Amino acid sequence: MSKAVRIALIGAGWMGQIHSEAYCRLQTKTAVDGVGPELRWVVDVDEPRARRLMDTYGYSNCSDNWQEVIARNDVDLVDVCVHNSLHRDIVLASARAGKHLLCEKPLATNPQAADEMVRAVEAAGVVHMINFNYRRVPAIAFARELLRQGELGAVYQIRALFAQDFAANPELPVSWRFSPDLAGGGSLVTMGSHALDLMRWLMGNVTTLVSMTSTLVPDRPVADEEGRVVPGRRAKISVDDATSIMARFASGAAGSLETTWLAHGRKHHLEFELYGSRGALHFNSERLNELRLCDATVPLARRGFTTILVGEPHPYGGEFMLKTGMGIGIKETFLLQLEDLIAGVAGGVQVEPNFRDGLEVDRLIAAALESAKLGQWVKV
Ligand SMILES: NC(=O)c1ccc[n+]([C@@H]2O[C@H](COP(=O)([O-])OP(=O)(O)OC[C@H]3O[C@@H](n4cnc5c(N)ncnc54)[C@H](O)[C@@H]3O)[C@@H](O)[C@H]2O)c1
Repeated sequence: MSKAVRIALIGAGWMGQIHSEAYCRLQTKTAVDGVGPELRWVVDVDEPRARRLMDTYGYSNCSDNWQEVIARNDVDLVDVCVHNSLHRDIVLASARAGKHLLCEKPLATNPQAADEMVRAVEAAGVVHMINFNYRRVPAIAFARELLRQGELGAVYQIRALFAQDFAANPELPVSWRFSPDLAGGGSLVTMGSHALDLMRWLMGNVTTLVSMTSTLVPDRPVADEEGRVVPGRRAKISVDDATSIMARFASGAAGSLETTWLAHGRKHHLEFELYGSRGALHFNSERLNELRLCDATVPLARRGFTTILVGEPHPYGGEFMLKTGMGIGIKETFLLQLEDLIAGVAGGVQVEPNFRDGLEVDRLIAAALESAKLGQWVKV
């Protein structure tokens, strides 16, 4: 491998753009002291879209054919930013070609495909990362640090909610996100995959769960390729608009998660509250730089939630905030992911979260969908 890690980004849509921006920032960040990314190829079936990203972010080349690009010798790392069902084929072919991999979440649309992907990257001996970027939100990383240090004592319970209003308008046209084949599920997949990863990361593995899924907007308009609604055409929706899960962790702790994309009043509301024998903590992504803590060892009269403004003393906190109180944005969490990934590739060490974490989340999603179908508790 050359000194730079040469990137081929597949999928020049929303995430392709966010990843590209992060690579560019990383180039200036690491230019002085280490190996950085080199933007070699950007690929999209929509060639003008790939060309736009090439021009904006300085990729050397663009293409509409991912098979040709991943086979090239001038690519070290393939970054998969297409719809979920295509992750598998790109990952399997890239691993066969010996490329390191970054894959957007969820890893696949079912655990069988995810398992194949894990086996492929492990057999190839390449570095692999899944983009569960919330793990690099300083407040969440700090919460995990507190849990690992036993600050909350025995952890009894986690309650999580991921609510957005993005599909609250029933006239929002369908996209791949509403297709069971292309996405693998609805709000549970698109949003719940992040929350389920965090629940595992903070609490350990889930052993059993029961769930209820609801499709509450039965059909939506169809749009043409330019995004214009086609008059009189509506598509039937079968993926979940909202899902509720109750879960039991291997530790014996209890958990719950609700996801919905029909939540007027909620923009990007990933919230969790966690109770232990010595205290509690609370996080809400709409207050990204805050962690609320309750220390239950102080006298009762002074016991309650305290808001900690996350910054310099906390994980990742010193990297981007001008000073504590000035905050970090969600885009920086992508940059932090990519920084750890590039360092892993350069140093030949495996990184986290990786495809094994992706597989575990896909197992949880499949169990939740199965439980909802059967109307009963299932083992994970
Ligand atoms: N980490 C996060 O917070 C986060 C947020 C949003 C989306 N995502 C994930 O990122 C992935 C992409 O989502 P998005 O919102 O960017 O979607 P998008 O629809 O904006 O972009 C997908 C792109 O893939 C292209 N594409 C489709 N088929 C292709 C093919 N055969 N070859 C090359 N390109 C092809 C499309 O033309 C489109 O430009 C999904 O897996 C999604 O779940 C993650």
